[in-house]
Amino acid sequence: MPVFLIDEARRVFENAHAPYSNFRVGAALRCKSGAVFAGCNVENVAYPEGTCAEAGAIAAMVAAGQGEIAEILVLADSAVPVTPCGGCRQKIAEFGTPETVIILANPSGEVGRTTLGALLPGSFTPAHLAGKS
Ligand code: THU
Repeated sequence: MPVFLIDEARRVFENAHAPYSNFRVGAALRCKSGAVFAGCNVENVAYPEGTCAEAGAIAAMVAAGQGEIAEILVLADSAVPVTPCGGCRQKIAEFGTPETVIILANPSGEVGRTTLGALLPGSFTPAHLAGKS
C-alpha cells in the first residue's frame, strides 16, 4: 500500500498541540529512499520553545537514520496556502536540494506546489562554511 503524504499529514495534524495560536499544522515528508515521516507543531506556554510541524517531521527522519528529503507536504487549515516559515526552509535545506518539492495543502487536499529553490534562493550552505566560492 503506498503511503500518501496528505494522509500522514492529516493524521498528525489532528494531534498538533497549538492551544496558543489555535493554528494546527501537519507536515509529512518523503525521503529519496521512499520512507515517510510526519510531524505536527508543538507549542509551549513559553512561546519561543514551540516547534513547527516541519521540524517534527525532520527530527523523526533523522532519528530513523534517514536524511535526504525528496518532497515535503505542509498542511494547515487556512484559506491562504501555508508555506514553511523561514527557519523551516533552512531546516529543509539541510536535508534537501533546490529541487526538493514543497506541497501546500489544506484538509481538503493539495492547493499548491513549489520547490525549495523557489522559496529559499541564495541560502547559506556548507560551501559557505568552508569558505569555498
Ligand atoms: N507553524 C508550523 O508548524 N509550520 C510553519 O511552516 C508555519 C508555522 C506553526 C508554528 C506555530 O505553532 C503556529 O504554526 C502559528 O505560527
